[in-house]
Amino acid sequence: MCGIVGYIGSQQAPAILMDGLKRLEYRGYDSAGIAVHDGAKLCSLKSKGKLVNLAGKLENTPLTGCLGIGHTRWATHGAPSDINSHPHLSSDNLIAVVHNGIIENYMEIKKELTAKGYKFISETDTETVAHLIDYYYTSGFDFREAVFKTLERIEGAYALGIICKDYPDMLIAARKNAPLIVGLGEGENYIASDIPAILNRTRKVYFLNDNEIAFVKADSVEIYNRNHEKVHHDVYEVKWDIKAAEKDGYEHFMIKEINEQPKIIRDLIEHRMPENGNRIDMDGIKLKKDDIDYISRIYIVACGTAYHAGLVGKNIIEKITRIPVIADVASEFRYKDPILDEKTLLIVVSQSGETADTLEALRIAKKNKARVLAVVNAVGSSIAREADDVFYIHAGPEISVASTKAFSAQVIAMELIACHMAMEIGRMSAEEFKAIKEEFYSIPSKVSAILQKSITEKELAKKYVQSKNVFFIGRGLDYIISKEGSLKLKEIAYLHSEAYAAGELKHGPIAMIEESSLVIAVMTQERLYEKTLSNIKEVKARGAKVIAITLNDNKLIGDEVDDVIYIPHSSWMLAPLLAVIPAQLFAYYVAYLLGTDIDQPRNLAKSVTVE
Ligand code: G6P
Repeated sequence: MCGIVGYIGSQQAPAILMDGLKRLEYRGYDSAGIAVHDGAKLCSLKSKGKLVNLAGKLENTPLTGCLGIGHTRWATHGAPSDINSHPHLSSDNLIAVVHNGIIENYMEIKKELTAKGYKFISETDTETVAHLIDYYYTSGFDFREAVFKTLERIEGAYALGIICKDYPDMLIAARKNAPLIVGLGEGENYIASDIPAILNRTRKVYFLNDNEIAFVKADSVEIYNRNHEKVHHDVYEVKWDIKAAEKDGYEHFMIKEINEQPKIIRDLIEHRMPENGNRIDMDGIKLKKDDIDYISRIYIVACGTAYHAGLVGKNIIEKITRIPVIADVASEFRYKDPILDEKTLLIVVSQSGETADTLEALRIAKKNKARVLAVVNAVGSSIAREADDVFYIHAGPEISVASTKAFSAQVIAMELIACHMAMEIGRMSAEEFKAIKEEFYSIPSKVSAILQKSITEKELAKKYVQSKNVFFIGRGLDYIISKEGSLKLKEIAYLHSEAYAAGELKHGPIAMIEESSLVIAVMTQERLYEKTLSNIKEVKARGAKVIAITLNDNKLIGDEVDDVIYIPHSSWMLAPLLAVIPAQLFAYYVAYLLGTDIDQPRNLAKSVTVE
C-alpha cells in the first residue's frame, strides 16, 4: 500500500526521497510524487505509474532543496492519475501533504472548505488535509498549531508527512492507525512508513504511536501527544541488515525469499526448541496450564496468507489439544459481533503487523477483555505493540508482495504454540515431544532438498502455463495448502484458480472440469490418501490433467496422475511446511513465463492498511 518518505538535513532531498520511494516500491503502488522546499517555495512533481515515470519528470525538471516529502500511492479515492497522486498542495502552495490511510469525514470537511472558497482539484480525501491545515494556518495559527487543529477535525486512519513554505526547517509527521517512523541521522532526520525506506541511511528509529505528532528538524525531533504533552520514546536500533531487503543476486525478491526458508525455519526451531531442552521456549508468553485451563474459546484471526497459516494452527491446536478453535478472516470477524470475554484467547497472525482489519480485530477483542497473542514478523509494528503477548517469527523483511517465507515461519509458530499447549495440559508426553522435536529438526534439510530439485516445478510450469483454470484439491491440512497454492497463483500469475476440499468437488465445481483443466492435488496426509485418490480419479475421468504433490513413499499415486512432485516423507503435522514449497515454486515459474510483475503484482499491496 501507500508509502511515505521524508527528509530534512543538508543533503539534496530529491535523490534521497526517490531512493526511499524505490525501496518502498514493494508495498504496491500505482503513482508517485515528491514535494521539495527549495529555500523559497514548495515545488512538486507527480506522476501516474511506476517511479521511472516520476524519475523522467525529475530529470527534465530537476528540483533542489534539503527538505522534502515523497509518496507512492495505492489508489483508494480517485483513480491513479497525476492529479490524484500525492503530495497534495494547498491552492496557495503554502502546505504540502503526503498521506497513507483514509480520511473518513473528508466529504464533510471538503464541503465546509468549498463554502469558504477553497478549490479542490483532485478526487482524493488527502487534499482536504492540505486545505484544512492551510485554513487554520492562514487564520492565524502557527504551523504546529494548524496541524494540531487539523488532527482534531479529521477522522479515520492516517500517517501524514507535512511541510510548509514558511518553515524551511521543519517536517511534521503524525499518525493514527497507520504506521510511521522517524529515522535519526547526524544533522539530518527522516520520516518513513516502513523501515526499508531509510535503512541504508540510519538504523536508529522512533516508532510513533497513534495520536502522536513529531516535529522533525535537521538536528532535533520532538514528539507530542494530542494533549500537547511532550512524550519520550526510546530509540529502537534496527537489527536486520540492509542486505535482507535487497535481492542479493536473485532475479526477484519472491524467489530469494522462497530460498531463505530453510534458514528461517532452522533459526526459528533452534531458538524456540533448543537442542538440549525438553520444552518449547515461549519467551515469557503467558500460556501456562492455568492460563490454558482458564480459556473457554480460542479464535485465530488473520488475512490472506497469514489466515492460511492460522488455519493450519486451528487444525493442529484442535487435534492435539482437543480445545475447539474458530478461525476467521479479520474482515469478517470484526463485523460478526464475536463472542468475546476474558476467557477468550485471540491469536492474530500478521506478517506486517499493520493489516487494518487484523489490527481492528485485536482492538475489538481487547475492548471485550479477551487476551491477545500476536504471531508477527515486523518488530515494533502496531499489532505487536498492542497485543498482550507476541510470538515473533523473525523471518526478516519480506519484500515480495506474495508472502512465502513469512507463511512458513507462521506455520512453525502455530505448530510450536500447539505443541506447547498440548504439553502444558498433559496431552503431549515427553517422549512424544522428543519425537516431534526430531521431526522439526529434520524440516530445514527437507525444504532444502525440495528447493534443490526446483527444476521439476520449472518444467511443469512450462508444460501447464497455458492452463486457463487451475483447481487445487486436498483434504485436511492438504486443503489448506491447496488454498495457499491457489492464492499464490492468483496473486502473481493472475491465473484463475480455485481451491476445493477434495470431497466438495462433486458438489458443484466438478461441473467446470473439462479437457483443458489443470488439477493440482495435494496429498500428504496418509490416512486420507485413498479418499483424495478417488477425487483424482473423478477429475481424470472428465479429462483434467492432474499434478500430485505427495510424499515420496506414496505407492498409491503411481500412474493415476499426469505428473508428480515428490516431497520427502514427513509426519502429518509438519507436511504443510514441505507441500507449500512446490506450490510456491510452481506459481513463481508460471508467473515468470507469463511475464507478470512478480514482486509487485498488479492491484495488490504488501501491507493493507485500509479496510
Ligand atoms: C496482503 C498481502 C498478503 C498478506 C495479507 C495479510 O494482502 O499481499 O501477502 O498475506 O495482506 O498481511 P499481514 O501483513 O497481516 O500478514
